[in-house]
Amino acid sequence: MGVQQDHHDILETLQIDPEFLVQQEHRPTLKYNDYKTAVGQHHVVPVIDLSPLTSKKKKEKKSSSGLESSSALTQQEHDAHSFIHNLVEQVGKACEEWGFFQVINHGVSLSLLEELETNAQSFFALPLQEKAKVRRTFENSLGYYDRERTKNVRDWKEVFDFATSGMLQLPADVGSEGKQLISHTNQWPENPSTLREVCENWSKAVEGLAFELLGLISQSLGLPATYFHKFWEPDDSNFIRMNYYPKCPMPNLTLGVTRHKDAGCLTVLVQDEVGGLQVRCKNGEWIGIRPQRDAFVVNVGDLFQVWSNDRYKSVEHRVVVNENKPRFSFPLFFNPSPRTNVAPLPELLLCGDQVPLYRPYNWGEFMKTKKGTPPIL
Ligand code: OGA
Ligand code: NI
Repeated sequence: MGVQQDHHDILETLQIDPEFLVQQEHRPTLKYNDYKTAVGQHHVVPVIDLSPLTSKKKKEKKSSSGLESSSALTQQEHDAHSFIHNLVEQVGKACEEWGFFQVINHGVSLSLLEELETNAQSFFALPLQEKAKVRRTFENSLGYYDRERTKNVRDWKEVFDFATSGMLQLPADVGSEGKQLISHTNQWPENPSTLREVCENWSKAVEGLAFELLGLISQSLGLPATYFHKFWEPDDSNFIRMNYYPKCPMPNLTLGVTRHKDAGCLTVLVQDEVGGLQVRCKNGEWIGIRPQRDAFVVNVGDLFQVWSNDRYKSVEHRVVVNENKPRFSFPLFFNPSPRTNVAPLPELLLCGDQVPLYRPYNWGEFMKTKKGTPPIL
């Protein structure tokens, strides 16, 4: 009690909202730029090289434009096939053992990322009253928000959310089983004036990558590459979040995002060079994901845990902030149509002879209860 009280005094002196205070047992034990585990080993989240996939795509382009004769491709096709097979195995292993992995040679251009970063920096540097013009409201869950909470603790961050399709459809009310959907549309600020175009270009590129990853994960479960695509039709609930984690004078007492699991299907995230994203290992230890300029961090969310009936578990993670540098990260939350009913897949239960561990639920309804709650203004 005394200790907690002391912290409140410090927070008051620093004029920090006590809602940021993380309970003692969940406070960060590892600094934002410490990538070692407590016992000093270098556990590393697997890094997977996607070049077989990107070169396959290039070849497909060439052959469809008739630049190469079909007979010349046979040996190459054979090699490509075994490279993809190997990739699928690596992805499956990473999903099973870690729930997280990084990908390099993913085909998303670095110059797009640089443009996104510059625009994000300009946007978050605007005065609050400017950012508030595109603030999330009760009717529209997209836009700027600085009061997000995770597990009822306020996150030390500001966000800007936009849907990759331009809008997000959510049930009008909880209980309507996703039948009556209401559109939440992207809100774009006046400044920086290039933000919209840059975000739209970025979202096309990263969404393409996410579909490729979905194909690999699907194959790693023994399903056809396009098996899951039907859940993204006729619409989806993909959205991108620009995360800005300001410098924090009390990084030991707060978190950028408290420990949590992602509720959706896949998260495909790029982080800047600062560091702070930490993942809970199977042994309970937290480890930091070392930023790598050319890498995306990928993790499977709760939907995959349900679909795969616990074969691919959604893993806890958090963001540690620091006193020295602000941090940016840009996750794509790659999620199916709000109409999707989620349940362990019969195809996977049959081959494993298992019983389903989860009851079916409606994804739109679930999002509505999470995202559609009134924002605290
Ligand atoms: C999230 C998240 C990690 C990061 O927004 O769900 O886990 O590095 N973000 O910003
Ligand atoms: Ni997350």
